[in-house]
Amino acid sequence: MTLRILHITDTHLFATPHARHHDLDTEATLEGVLRAAAPRAWDLVLVTGDLVHDGSTAGYRRLADHLGVLGVPALCIPGNHDDPATLAAALPRGALTWRGRHEAAPWTLVMLDSHLPGAVGGELGGTELQRLGAELATGTGPVLIALHHPPVAVGSAWMDADGLRDAAAFWRVVDASRRVKGVLWGHIHQTFDATRGRIRLMASPSTGLQFTPHSTEFALDASPPGYRSLLLGADGVIDSEILRLPAGPHSLY
Ligand SMILES: [Fe+2]
Repeated sequence: MTLRILHITDTHLFATPHARHHDLDTEATLEGVLRAAAPRAWDLVLVTGDLVHDGSTAGYRRLADHLGVLGVPALCIPGNHDDPATLAAALPRGALTWRGRHEAAPWTLVMLDSHLPGAVGGELGGTELQRLGAELATGTGPVLIALHHPPVAVGSAWMDADGLRDAAAFWRVVDASRRVKGVLWGHIHQTFDATRGRIRLMASPSTGLQFTPHSTEFALDASPPGYRSLLLGADGVIDSEILRLPAGPHSLY
């Protein structure tokens, strides 16, 4: 059996419906992305942080309503713009899970919390690293790790200054096992595809605003909102592609 994952990230909703993020209606673009993705068959949706821009309960509840349209389990991770306590309290139990793990034999998805209060960058810290190590030491099947902050440099100076502070410790834990097949993140509002040894490294466009790759300073990009499809094969192979909305009125330019 292949596990079919819809990866969306950095939805940046607000307490006020259809509020604008740098002049973009991120709720409208999220609706557009979900409409575009809905005809495909998915087993679950994975949302890697910056679920809301303002840490608001109302934003989380509307995100849950939007994701509910897909009718599959949703796994959510906090980003730097999120408020983990509000997120945990606002999301309905059952349909949405946050942090933790998800078992879909032979795969295990491990969702890590890199939110660091008051910081743009992230840190896993001892508890999450210990949890990851314990997870990798249990079982033998392939593992996909998801978190918000990039654990490698992505080639943009301003973003690389706010990545994962304890990335070296993260890789020490990952490298102690051979189970990890992929690491997936958000935060950078752009596509990233690379490999690190046998491990596939992936980031995806935001469902809203895009950042310009390889920029030294903050720069918005005109590329359309998008999402990632991941097909996790029973043989441990990841088949993945990025899909985007057509350029249109959601574009900044
Ligand atoms: Fe973001």
